[in-house]
Amino acid sequence: MRRILFAGSLLALMGCSQPQPAEQPDVEKALNYCAAQVQRTLTELQGDSGIDYMEMPRNIMDSLSSWHTRKATKEEWCSGFWPGILWYDYEYTGDPEIRRQAEKFTASLKYLSQRPAHDHDLGFLVFCSYGNGYRLTKDPEYKQVILDTADTLATLYNPVVGTILSWPREREKNNWPHNTIMDNMINLEMLFWASKNGGGSYLYDIAVAHADKTMENHFREDYTSYHVAVYDTITGDFIKGVTHQGYADHTMWARGQAWAIYGYTLCYRETKDQKYLDFLQKITDVYLKDLPEDYIPYWDFKAPGIPDAPRDASAACVVASALLEASTYLSGEKGKEYKEVAVKMLGSLSSPAYQSGESKPAFLLHSTGHWPAGSEIDAAIIYADYYYIEALLRLKRLNEGKEVTGWS
Ligand code: GLY
Repeated sequence: MRRILFAGSLLALMGCSQPQPAEQPDVEKALNYCAAQVQRTLTELQGDSGIDYMEMPRNIMDSLSSWHTRKATKEEWCSGFWPGILWYDYEYTGDPEIRRQAEKFTASLKYLSQRPAHDHDLGFLVFCSYGNGYRLTKDPEYKQVILDTADTLATLYNPVVGTILSWPREREKNNWPHNTIMDNMINLEMLFWASKNGGGSYLYDIAVAHADKTMENHFREDYTSYHVAVYDTITGDFIKGVTHQGYADHTMWARGQAWAIYGYTLCYRETKDQKYLDFLQKITDVYLKDLPEDYIPYWDFKAPGIPDAPRDASAACVVASALLEASTYLSGEKGKEYKEVAVKMLGSLSSPAYQSGESKPAFLLHSTGHWPAGSEIDAAIIYADYYYIEALLRLKRLNEGKEVTGWS
């Protein structure tokens, strides 16, 4: 932290600007901004020939001003975020046309509930889209899609290891016989939800086993996480922790730690098991202590070139959303602290340093997708926008004295 502050002051003396510490966001203004950007995106997708509901906005690179879209194939893990953004925007605006668009984009993902699992991303894909759709409409067809997809996701569970196989395709490619990635924690939410809403109780047991085994093996002694945990399929033993999207096997990839913070927050919500709440504080505090002044992390906490390394706004969005929820489970100073830092994160994200404003129809700039692969570096990326609008709505609910997640 001291190194970062020193570098920041040096840059200031040289006349260069560093992002400033956060101010409180104006939540209504930020949500209105999101609503306007959603309209711009819809207009762009409409083009001259009408919307292709299988094409989902994915990213806008720094030099560009319109969305790069990707087809909602089973390989494209981000296709649930745009329908999810539309549901959140509909929740805020109540605009029936936004609901109509949310329904149409959501329907493009139904096929995922009717085919074998490609990988663990089914939760991102179906719970961000159908999950939010069901939360707001209570459409029984949506519920069935979620229940079917939860059963499909459960087929990737290996009872010998006690976790879900995240990437079947990496088994031979990387000699990772059973691999579990930290991101997989997010997909437990769909299993917990399904088990409470008509699905089998075994879905709850899988989610708990996965969370426990991940807690046991996926973190170093200082509570920073590996991206990938590799297990032996025969003995179930943990073999090694490695990275895929982080800088090195021994460093903390910012979004990986963000997925962990969000994941253990939802595990506590669903189980009320104190061990998850205790653990959540350990993995959060190690993330918070080395943040730059504006609360937006570098893409990896040991990224080369800090303080000039790219940031990852998406990690900040995920953490802000999680900590707003976590703050409601923690009494006293800790709860207050988590709410305050989450608000500061949202303050920074809502400033001109991070909002794309007129320059692009995305909400936010400065996320990093996959630095080691040279992909989506310092870009606007759809999942940053999804967790940003989710966090803003959570803050709005808290400010109105309502339950934070919007589920009850
Ligand atoms: N789940 C993939 C990523 O966070 O980039």
